[in-house]
Amino acid sequence: MPQESPFPNIKACVFDAYGTLFDVHSAVGKYDQRLGDVADQVSKIWRTKQLEYTWLRSLMKKHADFWQVTQDALDYALDVYNITDKQLRNELIEAYLELECYPEVPDTLVKLKDSGRQIAILSNGSPSMLEAVVKSSGLENLVQTILSVEMVGIFKPDPTVYQLAIDRLGLTAAEIVFLSANAWDASGATAFGFCVAWINRFAQRPERLPFQPDIEIKTLAELPGLLSA
Ligand code: LAC
Repeated sequence: MPQESPFPNIKACVFDAYGTLFDVHSAVGKYDQRLGDVADQVSKIWRTKQLEYTWLRSLMKKHADFWQVTQDALDYALDVYNITDKQLRNELIEAYLELECYPEVPDTLVKLKDSGRQIAILSNGSPSMLEAVVKSSGLENLVQTILSVEMVGIFKPDPTVYQLAIDRLGLTAAEIVFLSANAWDASGATAFGFCVAWINRFAQRPERLPFQPDIEIKTLAELPGLLSA
């Protein structure tokens, strides 16, 4: 018997960007020879601090855009290991504009587009960061709408961010599926009221928050089948 789709009536797929479509560790990956043994740790601290600074700035009501926050987090991570090479620092931050997308992303977006669904990004990234990374990974003809938190001046998981997708796409929450590999973002979008798939790329434990995503998948390649099942 054919299985019923867990997400009937979906008209738009709204993707988180960093970690979901784009591999945030591919920036350090380009320079791991120069960073040596601490490369993985630098990348992890960079990402962790970047997210912490978004949450802290939102709570403090002192917004700065994601480009600033990403630089601050990188400077912190380099500082931890006393890395003072300014050229390397600048190359790393520029690499954030050319992150690699995960291998299944282009094919998945083609399938979704062919099925007539809208494709959007809803991200903490600033508009210029998102435009650059979409272009450098060749997705500019597949992603129809780029929504940045800069339109509301606060970071995820503030509900006003998720509301942006509804307002800008002109759809109801039930017509949108939100996709994120960041468990906390999947939880925030669930709390908001979206249908949510958590892309659990790294077999992480679920968040201990009372807002569990509707479904958990391993990669985005599973998504088109779920929508048409
Ligand atoms: C984003 C962060 C959560 O793209 O990775 O919004």
